[in-house]
Amino acid sequence: MGQAQDSGAKTKKSAKLWGGRFSETTAASVESFTESISYDRRLYRHDIMGSKAHARMLARQNLITDQERDAILQGLDDILADIEAGTFVFSPELEDVHMNIEKALTDRIGDAGAKLHTARSRNDQISLDLRLYLRDEAAELDRLLQGTQRAFVALARTYLGVVMPGYTHMQRAQPVLLSHHLLAYYEMFSRDRSRLKDCVRRMNLSPLGAAAMAGTGLPIDRESVAEELHFDGVTANSMDSSGDRDFALEFVFVLNLIQLHLSRLAEELVLWSSKEFSFVDIGDRYCTGSSIMPQKKNPDIPELIRGKTGRVTGALVSLLMTIKGLPLTYNRDLQEDKEPVFDALDTVKAGLTITAELLHNTTFHTKKLQQATRGGFMTATDLADYLVRKNIPFRKAHSIVGGVVAHCQQRGIELTDLDLDELRKFSPAIEQDIFNVLSVEGSVNSRISTGGTAQIQVERALEIAEQQLEKDS
Ligand code: ARG
Repeated sequence: MGQAQDSGAKTKKSAKLWGGRFSETTAASVESFTESISYDRRLYRHDIMGSKAHARMLARQNLITDQERDAILQGLDDILADIEAGTFVFSPELEDVHMNIEKALTDRIGDAGAKLHTARSRNDQISLDLRLYLRDEAAELDRLLQGTQRAFVALARTYLGVVMPGYTHMQRAQPVLLSHHLLAYYEMFSRDRSRLKDCVRRMNLSPLGAAAMAGTGLPIDRESVAEELHFDGVTANSMDSSGDRDFALEFVFVLNLIQLHLSRLAEELVLWSSKEFSFVDIGDRYCTGSSIMPQKKNPDIPELIRGKTGRVTGALVSLLMTIKGLPLTYNRDLQEDKEPVFDALDTVKAGLTITAELLHNTTFHTKKLQQATRGGFMTATDLADYLVRKNIPFRKAHSIVGGVVAHCQQRGIELTDLDLDELRKFSPAIEQDIFNVLSVEGSVNSRISTGGTAQIQVERALEIAEQQLEKDS
């Protein structure tokens, strides 16, 4: 039975759009192995957008008639409507989104449809589609990044003035304002936004007209298509255009940095919501329980964000490896670009969305944060800086304060427990005003250098962030 079917397939002529030179139909196993329609169908809107611009250009260049152009435009609009209504049937035998749409067009409007692919190849078409798609997704990502930034800024405003320990090596280092810590994330996401913009700037060139890889002898006008599709220009070298996926790689790299930032925050939220820290409380609606331990309230959302970082990084590595060693120009390997790009994009978008929500549903335990600044000699650097202001060389001051800390540790007391006489035994330069410096608030508010944690600097940073977000909205 299987054999009979096989021999039947062998004598039947291929019905593919590219089937002219084939005397046998494609094996079913090959069709399922090579198809990309199961995932590249999400490019349909951009594929149609590109085809419409291409058709208009073909008419301007007298490569098709105005009637043919109009039939193509109408046909493509009808297909778009059917896809959006969910009534369009995508078929794997037609491989990819380009051929599914082109075949449907030709079935509907006849010969005019068969002219759409004039002076075009799927090689420049897929590069065009992906650029158009990622450009739109970059705008969406920017909106989501803004949403996350807004959540940080709102928290920084709410908790302005609250102190907490700042850490290095996960050891208490120096007291800081909670708002300063929160605004550090605002900065990370600002850089992500600017990186995204840079990436779009390089991506925003039209590859259409590179055709398969050598360009075309037909009298096309690449520039006018680029303009219609709001590109900043056209790519310079047809061979480069055909095989280039730098833009996709850069995009996935930007996604990776966003995910990394989300993951660092996630780690802090997991730590901070533990009993050991008790710095934050994540709202019940944003936590889950344990099926065995009735007392548990688990921070699954940040854990999953942290965990999903693996697949986003995997997408980058996968794409890098796909392109490594590929000879010029287009190779079918490049079809493997889409799944990692889409998966990384979906993952990061979901992560940004839920993070913003999570932050709006997180409360900080300000008392706990304040208490955690006690102990650990976090104002030791302030004492050293105080001595520097009294003209003692920093290295010497460092050593004097080291002696003070050792003394306190032996006696099990804090720097603030020492009186003036005891302090002066370590350095006669110490005077009554030392007590302004040794308090946590004094320490925080002394750090007035640009970008420092003093309240006056943090307020400034907060205002700048608020103004920026206001402008962006
Ligand atoms: N589905 C293909 C891809 O994603 C489109 C380009 C195919 N070109 C070709 N000559 N087979 O890369």
